[in-house]
Amino acid sequence: MSNSIESHLQEDRVFKPSREFSKNARIKNMAQYTRMYQESIEKPGIFWAREAKELAWQKKWTKVLDWKAPYAKWFLGGKLNVCESCVDQHLKNGRANKAALIWEGEPGETRTLTYRQLHREVCQFANVLLAKGIKPKDRVMIYMPMTPEAVIAMLACARIGAVHSVIFGGFSAESIVDRLEDCQAKAMITSDGGYRRGGVVPLKENVDEALKKYKGVETVIVHQRIGNEGAPVKMKRGRDVWWHEEAAQVSAKHEAQAFDSEHPLFILYTSGSTGKPKGILHTSAGYLLGAYTTCKYIFDMRDDDVYWCTADVGWITGHSYIAYGPLANGVTQVMYEGAPNHPDFGRFWDIVEKYSVSIFYTAPTAIRAFIKAGNELPQARDLSSLRLLGTVGEPINPEAWMWYHTIIGGGRCPIVDTWWQTETGAIMISPLPGCTPTKPGTATLPFFGVDAAILDETGEECGPNEGGKLVIRKPWPSMLRTIYGDKKRYRDTYWKDYQGMYTAGDGARTDRKGNFWIVGRLDDVLNVSGHRLGTAEVESALVSHEVVAEAAVVGRPHEIKGQGVVAFVTLKGSTAPTDALNGELRNHVGKVIGAIAKPDEIYFTPAMPKTRSGKIMRRLLKELVATGEISGNTTTLENPGIVEDLRAQLKKK
Ligand code: PRX
Repeated sequence: MSNSIESHLQEDRVFKPSREFSKNARIKNMAQYTRMYQESIEKPGIFWAREAKELAWQKKWTKVLDWKAPYAKWFLGGKLNVCESCVDQHLKNGRANKAALIWEGEPGETRTLTYRQLHREVCQFANVLLAKGIKPKDRVMIYMPMTPEAVIAMLACARIGAVHSVIFGGFSAESIVDRLEDCQAKAMITSDGGYRRGGVVPLKENVDEALKKYKGVETVIVHQRIGNEGAPVKMKRGRDVWWHEEAAQVSAKHEAQAFDSEHPLFILYTSGSTGKPKGILHTSAGYLLGAYTTCKYIFDMRDDDVYWCTADVGWITGHSYIAYGPLANGVTQVMYEGAPNHPDFGRFWDIVEKYSVSIFYTAPTAIRAFIKAGNELPQARDLSSLRLLGTVGEPINPEAWMWYHTIIGGGRCPIVDTWWQTETGAIMISPLPGCTPTKPGTATLPFFGVDAAILDETGEECGPNEGGKLVIRKPWPSMLRTIYGDKKRYRDTYWKDYQGMYTAGDGARTDRKGNFWIVGRLDDVLNVSGHRLGTAEVESALVSHEVVAEAAVVGRPHEIKGQGVVAFVTLKGSTAPTDALNGELRNHVGKVIGAIAKPDEIYFTPAMPKTRSGKIMRRLLKELVATGEISGNTTTLENPGIVEDLRAQLKKK
């Protein structure tokens, strides 16, 4: 992959939006962007108050921001119901019969929900949750496939003030337990299964497994997605109920009650540098405003757009750019249940053609897989409806950017490379499609209100092309409020490096034009297919296997996935390393965390390279994996011979 700094620095291709695009865009030129950006930084109160007026409020705020680093409160005194902005308001503004969700299941069935129908479904399900005794601030876990019901469940929680925590359907039963315990969830919403690559994902079975260990869930509401086509699911009497049966017993009318601006909206778990995932807490008004304004300006959403974000609702991208942002903008969006390569790599392009998608948002890892599958599939489809393309989740290498631009965008669509994180809630650095000159590989400039900078170790701002740490120097509306139940970790992880500033954990640099080039994580977090994965999580999954004494995990550049997972394992006692054991350990990690965490390569070693004080030299393993060599002095190691042995093993690969 050539997303190295060298290729960044040599990148001199610049792409500007067409005159036609700029003319119709909300932000038409750089002067307008600069003016608005300056206002957003110098007078955030005025800037954000103006934007916030476009949301549905039941009571106006009295103060825009209260900032006592590292704790922010936005729109104090205001009251709103997030669901009203996303659904109810469209029943009054002429969009009632407009398609909100056009859904396609992996087997091919389709369903369209208008805003009125969505409202009805959400109200009805809100009443189901109320009937089950769910109260404001109760935590409700959602573990579902990509069906409209996943979005309905999220909105219904928001509507009654319950805090949802969505867990990606690819996570294992054990991962569910960790999250349930951390947030002490009271209810679980799941499905009898979901379709993925032609098979059925046994979601309810995983839930049953998890609930053997965590006993706090009183109600499991099961949406019937698979029905008779899957193995019958077991329903535990007194705990498990069918969504459709409960819905049939309640009214489809529900008045949205107002909650404080800072009422918790959701907890979303993400990986950090320890084995324990962090529960990122987002609250109501500021988060919604971030999702809303970024959709409005960065995707430049219009009433006649058909927007499609290919993320899963289990990730932050699915929260901000499927559930909340697009709906608050009243756009029509496509939602697809399954895999990009089912039945073949033409599936996405079929969907773009079929529904005349105009805005398309995906991940570089998917683009790289499409490149590998060849140009024939996209070229056999009519992609002329597309007008804007986006990417998210990892640095995009210039080759992938160019392919996306020419083969998918037909050379006419601006590309917004959007940098942000679970913690930031909404896009932070991105081109604005009607004005920002783009270069393959850079997320370009900060969004309104985002005071991004790159600092060196001493806190000085880095000059052009000097690498440093990416920080945000001022609070922004959609920022995380804390790590659920762990304020200390919140302060230590994000606010310790520089006084009053948020440290993102990414290394980056700017070029002479001020464009931000994100290099990648500075901590022990990998980015595998755009998904965050802590090396410590994989290590603890490995050592939970009975034959493993010790494990060390590092990343390696991977052609499709961005980063692959490489594990070094020391076995207990006399256990012999075999190919079968290698496979078993991979599957074990899959079982403990989920398939995305399975190591690509496992190397057995009689001992880990360690310092004399007994610390594993991960830096050395990283270097060995990246280059096949060790440049520094290894004499300080307790066991230098180990390195030779590992070097030989890696060479054989
Ligand atoms: O390293 C950055 C990378 O993804 C991390 C955030 O991961 P997560 O919280 O799972 O959210 C992903 C979706 C927003 C960041 O710290 N990242 C995200 N977007 C980009 C990126 N790296 C480079 N370019 C991007 N556009």
